[in-house]
Amino acid sequence: MNSALPRHKNHPDQPQPIKPRRMAFDMSELNEKFFFRGNPILSTFLYALSASFPDGERFFIDAVRHYQKDLKDPVLISQVRGFIGQEAHHAHIHDHFNERAETLGMAMTEVQGIFKKRIMMVQKRLSPADQLAITSAIEHITATVAQWTLENSESELTRGDNSPLREMLLWHAMEEIEHKAVAFDVFRQTVNNETLRIRWAKVVFRIFWVQMARAQCVLLWRDRSLPSLQHVREAWQFMWGENGMRRWARPELDKYLYKGFHPSDIDQSHLLEGWHESHPEVAALQIA
Ligand SMILES: [Fe+2]
Ligand SMILES: [Fe+2]
Repeated sequence: MNSALPRHKNHPDQPQPIKPRRMAFDMSELNEKFFFRGNPILSTFLYALSASFPDGERFFIDAVRHYQKDLKDPVLISQVRGFIGQEAHHAHIHDHFNERAETLGMAMTEVQGIFKKRIMMVQKRLSPADQLAITSAIEHITATVAQWTLENSESELTRGDNSPLREMLLWHAMEEIEHKAVAFDVFRQTVNNETLRIRWAKVVFRIFWVQMARAQCVLLWRDRSLPSLQHVREAWQFMWGENGMRRWARPELDKYLYKGFHPSDIDQSHLLEGWHESHPEVAALQIA
C-alpha cells in the first residue's frame, strides 16, 4: 500500500475517491487590476496561469480520455471520471475569472488565443502517447506548485490580495494534489514508456515557464504597464528568494525525472486532511 496518496476513510487500503467540488466564487470581488500586492509582474503571472488553464485542462481531459477505453483497473477507471470532472470544473471557473479580468483591461482573450493555438498544434502533430506524457508532466508541475501554494497560503497569498483568486487557487491546488497521479497512472497502464515520459518532462519543465513569461509580456505590453524596479525585486524574491516558488519547486520537479518515480512518492496527503478546518474560507464557498 502506498501511503503518500490520501486514503479512503472506510477502506484504508484504497485511495480516496476523486470527487469534483462545485464552488461558487464571486468574480465581482476582483476589482483591482493588479490585485496581487499591487505588483504588475506578480499579478500577470497569476493572470497568465489562469489564462492557460481552460484550454490546457481541456487538453489534459482529451489526452486521458483517449486511453479511457483501454483501462482495466476499476479504481483507476473511477479516478479518471473524477479527474475529468475536476478539470472540467476548473476550466469552467477559470473561464469566468478570465472574463472578469478582461473587463478590468487585461488582454486575456488574446493570451488564451495564443495558448489555444499552441495546444491545437500539439494535438495535430504529436501522438496520443506524447500528449499523455506531456499531460502527466504538467500535472507534476501543477501538483508541485499546488504544494507550495498550500504550504505558503498564509505568508504568500494573503498579503495585499483582495480577489477571489486566492480561494480559487487554494481549491484548485487541493484538487490538483488529489488527482496528481491519474494521468501518470493512465500513462503507466497503457503507454508505459519511462524514456518517453522523462524525455517529455525535460522539455515541458523548461517550456512551461517560458510560456508563462511570454503571456505576462503580452499582458503587460497590451496594458502599457512598465513595472518599477521595486516590482521587479519583489517578483524576483517571490520566485527565487529564500523559499521562493521556483527555487523551492526546482528540486521537487526534478524528482519526476528519475526512472521508477511515482507521484505518490511525494507525500502531500497532510495538505488535504482536514482542509475544511484549515481553510474554512474555501469550504464556505462549496455548494455541492
Ligand atoms: Fe486543474
Ligand atoms: Fe490537474
